[in-house]
Amino acid sequence: MALQNGELSKELLTSQAHIWNHIFSFINSMSLKCAVQLQIPDIIHHHGSPMLLSELVEALGLQHERTHFVYRLMRILVHSGFFLKQSGGNDEEGGEGYLLAPASRLLLKDEPLSVRPFLLAMLDPMLLDPWQHMSQWFQNDDITPFHTTHGKMLWDLAGQQPKLNQFFNEAMASDARLVTSVILKHCRGVFEGLDSIVDVGGGTGTVTEAVAEAFPHIRCICFDLPHVVNGLIGSKNLSYVGGDMFQAIPNTDAVMLKWILHDWSDEECIKILKRCREAISSKKSGGKLIIIDMVVKIHEEENELLETQLFFDMLMMTLVTGRERSEKDWAKLFVDAGFSDYKITPILRLRSLIEVYP
Ligand SMILES: C[S@@+](CC[C@H](N)C(=O)[O-])C[C@H]1O[C@@H](n2cnc3c(N)ncnc32)[C@H](O)[C@@H]1O
Repeated sequence: MALQNGELSKELLTSQAHIWNHIFSFINSMSLKCAVQLQIPDIIHHHGSPMLLSELVEALGLQHERTHFVYRLMRILVHSGFFLKQSGGNDEEGGEGYLLAPASRLLLKDEPLSVRPFLLAMLDPMLLDPWQHMSQWFQNDDITPFHTTHGKMLWDLAGQQPKLNQFFNEAMASDARLVTSVILKHCRGVFEGLDSIVDVGGGTGTVTEAVAEAFPHIRCICFDLPHVVNGLIGSKNLSYVGGDMFQAIPNTDAVMLKWILHDWSDEECIKILKRCREAISSKKSGGKLIIIDMVVKIHEEENELLETQLFFDMLMMTLVTGRERSEKDWAKLFVDAGFSDYKITPILRLRSLIEVYP
């Protein structure tokens, strides 16, 4: 019936196209991963001018027969906004060469703020496999799809598998470099009046190190699980402490929680926040938490940003026990953990800086 009616068949085909687009969304991720693994952004960057397809194939060290396949990989990546095509020569390809689009600069190996380690970690089979088990997880009692897949929680497995521990920590460190560069440029006031800070779940210390260097008078501690910080060497005003944030956090003026609370359920967050409150209780006034996390819907009008926040929310559901929170969710958490006030600074586009006061 539907196919006999012009309007209905248009709707039918639009629906089919919408579904196909979603079925194959993973091809965007996988094409990008392939290009990054082949170091295509680096090769084009080093070329310095629009790079012809033939030059790219040669620089990749691939056989000539692969040329058309490289062309097709590049075509989708031009379409998704990672490369640009520009006139630069005069050959059988119409003289058009490839250039990096702005986002691809963050995929370069040698770029200090590169998100390459984060991309490779998130698209590693170990973190992708749990998505295959999500429906199974909905129907069983396991705590996360990650647990259904690997039989353990992410943090426990990272403590046992050096490869996972390493690529996860590198991914976090790469994000920390980017975030720290923005915070130290635009939000230095957040650290004013502090003599000490503990970066809880601070990973291998990228944020803590940068704060210690920028504020030599602040005593900085990077606090994380022993398998993450064991063997790391501090400096004059930086030390590494291994421990469990659910048990106790070293006393301090301020606690930093970057990308920590979104890993945990509300109940778990309240436990962590109470430990944080105890840790800053010795500071008579001015003690606070400095949280870096998402506040969902803060950029509601920008559909792409909201979609990314929803992706992260699903990621937290799949890998860990956490979630992304709206301002209302955050406010409730802070009250439930005994805090009296908070201030949100939406400085990081997808994420915000949230200061929380006792
Ligand atoms: C998403 S990563 C964030 C790392 C870092 N803050 C950053 O943003 O780059 C979460 C961190 O929490 C740490 N973590 C997990 N459970 C913990 C616990 N019980 N006590 C202390 N740290 C923990 C992990 O080892 C990991 O380094």
